[in-house]
Amino acid sequence: MKQGIRDIVAQMTLQEKCAFVCGLDKWHTEPIERLGIPSIMMTDGPHGLRKIVEDGHTVQATCFPAGAGLASSWNRDLIKRVGAAIGEEAQAEEISIVLGPAANIKRSPLCGRNFEYLSEDPYLTGEMAKSHIQGVQSQNVGTSLKHFCANNQETMRMRVDEIIDERALREIYLAGFETAVKEAAPATVMCSYNSVNGTPLACNKRFLTDVLREEWGFDGFVVSDWGAIKQRAECVAAGLDLEMPGTKGTFNDEIEAAVLNGTLPESKLDEAVEHILSFVLDAAKAQKKGASYSKEEHDRFAREAAAECMVLLKNEDELLPFNSSDTIAVIGAFAETPRFQGGGSSHIQPNKVTSLLDALKEQGRRFTYSKGFSLESDELDEALAAEALDAARKAGIALVMAGLPAHYESEGYDRVHMQLPPNQNKLIARLCAEGVRVAVVLSNGSPVELPWADWVDSILEAYLGGQASGAALADLLYGEANPSGRLAETFPMRLQDNPSYLNFPGAQNRVEYRESVFVGYRYYEKKELGVRFPFGHGLSYTSFAYETLRVSKERMNERDLLSVSVTVRNTGKRSGQEVVQLYIAAPDVQA
Ligand code: GLC
Repeated sequence: MKQGIRDIVAQMTLQEKCAFVCGLDKWHTEPIERLGIPSIMMTDGPHGLRKIVEDGHTVQATCFPAGAGLASSWNRDLIKRVGAAIGEEAQAEEISIVLGPAANIKRSPLCGRNFEYLSEDPYLTGEMAKSHIQGVQSQNVGTSLKHFCANNQETMRMRVDEIIDERALREIYLAGFETAVKEAAPATVMCSYNSVNGTPLACNKRFLTDVLREEWGFDGFVVSDWGAIKQRAECVAAGLDLEMPGTKGTFNDEIEAAVLNGTLPESKLDEAVEHILSFVLDAAKAQKKGASYSKEEHDRFAREAAAECMVLLKNEDELLPFNSSDTIAVIGAFAETPRFQGGGSSHIQPNKVTSLLDALKEQGRRFTYSKGFSLESDELDEALAAEALDAARKAGIALVMAGLPAHYESEGYDRVHMQLPPNQNKLIARLCAEGVRVAVVLSNGSPVELPWADWVDSILEAYLGGQASGAALADLLYGEANPSGRLAETFPMRLQDNPSYLNFPGAQNRVEYRESVFVGYRYYEKKELGVRFPFGHGLSYTSFAYETLRVSKERMNERDLLSVSVTVRNTGKRSGQEVVQLYIAAPDVQA
């Protein structure tokens, strides 16, 4: 294939090469009819297809749980199946690349895109990202592992220079990408907007060529984040292959001039053309003509996936699952209009949306509903509160659908605090003071402070659970499904406890990652600092015993492989899933 590609490139004029490494428009690559090179289409996103057509409208697709939830499943096979379903839909829509997974580390809970990202831990990030890539690419559709690298904040994202030490780069910010590249071979990698240690990623040879290609063996093509390129010829030299979106030839002359005046070796331009062309020709062959998928089947799967992604954080005296004989006072508009996805480029037009109220009615549950609080204003509306309190007194059990309104978090900006809207906190406190049983469901893309956590009976973290989140919630709340999610990020007691607190989001286009490798639980554990809910935490409606832990060796040296096994026994009355977690650390070597 390589030689065939080279033969085609040898027939291309310099102008054709310059045009080919710049996109045709927002979503397509440049065709070269003269040589029979087709254009291919790429679209977002990490948890479902966002195909925008000529008139600007977005084609409907299945909206799966967002990354924060998917990673909380800790289930490689589930993520692969989600990826495969997205790949099926991409084939049906003749899309050749789906721009995801989004694998940036959650350095601060405030990052506006944390809902889309996977974890604070690089190992879990890598395992989930590689599984997503394997799933989508199993359908002969490409992916774009993004945003390479260290796009850990939205504030100043197009120009911020991140100062990161080598150890933190290698062990935290690159490690997940390394796993995904080496074990799943994504068709493309998308460079991030930001700079690292003084050089924009779009023209950062060290990362795009030395690390990505020469160290890790990446052999796909590198695509820019949309609008990330400033010095086009420099970017080609550094290893940035395709500029997106197309800029109608704005930069073609710059590349041509650089080749003609010798500042850009034509061989570098040829390499970029070859990387893109290799995929484009494969993609054209990989398209399954007339492909289709079952919306109903994908919606059913989205419900199953959402139930696996939710995390039972607290369940005092087993208030959950509810009995079908219970009457529940459901409080909060998220029950009626669910918050099931995030804002920005990952936003999907779902095939269908099932709210919790829809699902409770369908399952014939006994409940009352009251709005309780506004999602538009943070002020507590006394009339709404009074109605909710009255309903809770009558029912004896309150289910509060709390969480972050859409405008609290999104791509494009970061949060400035970690609190829920004050009206929600106030109402939950009043409900607890009433002496009724209180369960809280959280719909949020990233950690929140929970000042009432000790007063309520149960807390279920639903994250942004996709179009079927309401049905999945009903399944979990009444025990049709058993929660098995585990937190992929720490919920600190308060924002000030987070290790990035003093250095986020930086200022004057510069941010220093002074906490180095002490990100997330690595910091809290080292400092022995209490947290609200730790990384890896999650409860079940059943219980498990761990027995006969075995290790293959008592002592080992640097390169040894150690295998560890344990018997997990379900000691409860219902089936369930357990996530076995093994934490290892180098012995304390006295310097
Ligand atoms: C955005 C995002 C990226 C997305 C791209 C195309 O700016 O950063 O994740 O894939 O543009 O929408």
